[in-house]
Amino acid sequence: MPEKKAAAFRSALNPKTPLLVSCRSKDGRDNALAVVYACDCSYDPPMIMVGIVPSRHSYSIVKETGVFVANLVTESMRDAFFYLGSHSGRDEDKLAKLGVPIADGSVVDAPVLLDSPVSIECEVTGSVVTGSHEMFIGKIVHVRADAALVDAEGKIDFSRIEFLRL
Ligand SMILES: Cc1cc2nc3c(=O)[nH]c(=O)nc-3n(C[C@H](O)[C@H](O)[C@H](O)COP(=O)(O)O)c2cc1C
Repeated sequence: MPEKKAAAFRSALNPKTPLLVSCRSKDGRDNALAVVYACDCSYDPPMIMVGIVPSRHSYSIVKETGVFVANLVTESMRDAFFYLGSHSGRDEDKLAKLGVPIADGSVVDAPVLLDSPVSIECEVTGSVVTGSHEMFIGKIVHVRADAALVDAEGKIDFSRIEFLRL
């Protein structure tokens, strides 16, 4: 049995679920930020939660529009993830600057990141202010995945995705 000792408990859950959460302001400006405070939160109906700090530019967009897209992140998206997670859409059009390919969401009025293997379109049904973060509860209204990953029943083969590891 290994010896145990008290450890730091901030952001204690691991492994993380890195996401790029993309959104579009009411005046049509696209943005995305890195998020790791995120999880599934309902099986039926399918729902996820993403935690956004109120000071983020994306916070006011998601709060105002009530929609977002949670894009799963691969190792090949590492540089974009950290850029989008350390610069603000308040100061620049980050997606255009990086040349990140995007498309319109199929259901929600927000951009989908095409480099992401799985993009989850959500409508906000509520939120919970925890401490530092507001957890936005998103009802999943559409999932767009790389065709090669999806079987005849619509199931995604997540084992074939090389997820970003933090
Ligand atoms: C590894 C990593 C994880 C992050 N996780 C979160 C998070 O869960 N919630 C959040 O609000 N910000 C998180 N951030 C910070 C935002 O992504 C960052 O402040 C971003 O620049 C905000 O962009 P915006 O102002 O354009 O919305 C994270 C950043 C990194 C690098």
